[in-house]
Amino acid sequence: KMTMKDLDLKGKRVFCRVDFNVPMEDGKVTDDTRIRAAIPTIEYLVEQGAKVILASHLGRPKGQVNEDMRLAAAGARLSELLGSDVKCLEESVGETVEQEIASLDPGSILLLENVRFHAGEEQNDPELAKQFAALADVFVNDAFGAAHRAHASTAGIAEHLPAVSGLLLEKELDVLGKALSEPDRPFTAIIGGAKVKDKIGVIDHLLDVVDNLIIGGGLSYTFLKALGHEIGNSLVEEDKLDLAKSFIDKAKEKGVKFYLPIDVTIANEFSKDAETNTAKIEEIPSDWMGLDIGPETVKLYADVINESKLIIWNGPMGVFEMEAFANGTKSVAQAMAETAGYTVIGGGDSAAAVEKFHVADKMDHISTGGGASLEFMEGKELPGVTALSNK
Ligand code: 3PG
Repeated sequence: KMTMKDLDLKGKRVFCRVDFNVPMEDGKVTDDTRIRAAIPTIEYLVEQGAKVILASHLGRPKGQVNEDMRLAAAGARLSELLGSDVKCLEESVGETVEQEIASLDPGSILLLENVRFHAGEEQNDPELAKQFAALADVFVNDAFGAAHRAHASTAGIAEHLPAVSGLLLEKELDVLGKALSEPDRPFTAIIGGAKVKDKIGVIDHLLDVVDNLIIGGGLSYTFLKALGHEIGNSLVEEDKLDLAKSFIDKAKEKGVKFYLPIDVTIANEFSKDAETNTAKIEEIPSDWMGLDIGPETVKLYADVINESKLIIWNGPMGVFEMEAFANGTKSVAQAMAETAGYTVIGGGDSAAAVEKFHVADKMDHISTGGGASLEFMEGKELPGVTALSNK
């Protein structure tokens, strides 16, 4: 497959799609991980003497200009990180953009406005894709986080230009791809989060490749109930009980060890000030709810993590935003930090958790994609990637 490095980029206009969909508060970027992750590609393009045209979405403005979703703050942060100028435009296509690009010097950087201000972006409108393509000579996709979207700036544009992946996209595909196709064993996946519904595809696919599957978070109660446990007021998806049971059966068939909590931190209500206690899963009182994995479960899970050569983690073990129910997620993060195995964090909440518990630098790979890494782990094709390999 062709990469950026196979092209002569000197003096070329490069439309580089990045994922600068970063959390913001009061007009400031509160987590610049995705911006930092795009820097190797941007610096490479600058070194090659390309004219760098960066494009991204931010939030979900639904095809309209939204003052709170402008990319200028992300551009300012990028400029600080690079220590060089990044010119931020207030449009992503049109005359002004064309003029700015025409006067761009090789090695300089322009950031287009939020591409989702145009409805055509999410519709993958061929006209908009053509307009993007007309701005450049080469398309570089480095937006792994948006690679599961078939949009004009992630997929459509690739039909009109030489289209290659950037360094971040390459790295993400490399790490996640190797993990799933030629894993070091024992290979353990930890799946948490609130709902079974969101993790169906990923659990199903992982059961084909892992040695151990660890379940935590809200979704564990549906599994526990499917096994006949009384779970009190804990979260449950009644319509997923059969599915949960079928996953447990599939694990048996495949020889995958399937781990569920053996004890939980319970609360009398869903509140940070709730009364709390620890209960074995056979002993959850009918009017209490489980909101985190318990200490025995933490020990069990930490042992499995410790004995694994490869561990992928997606989804928190409890309601870690609340101090009283953070211990499970924190302990798993620490076990991940301490294991000698290769650790992969599958974006989203788990990435936020390793940040929060100050162990991010101890992980081998933290994916910049939430939805994208999940879809990748489901075994799905990512349209933003497919568009490139079609070339
Ligand atoms: C993400 O944050 O997962 C990506 O930037 C994609 O954003 P989206 O879910 O709004 O398409």
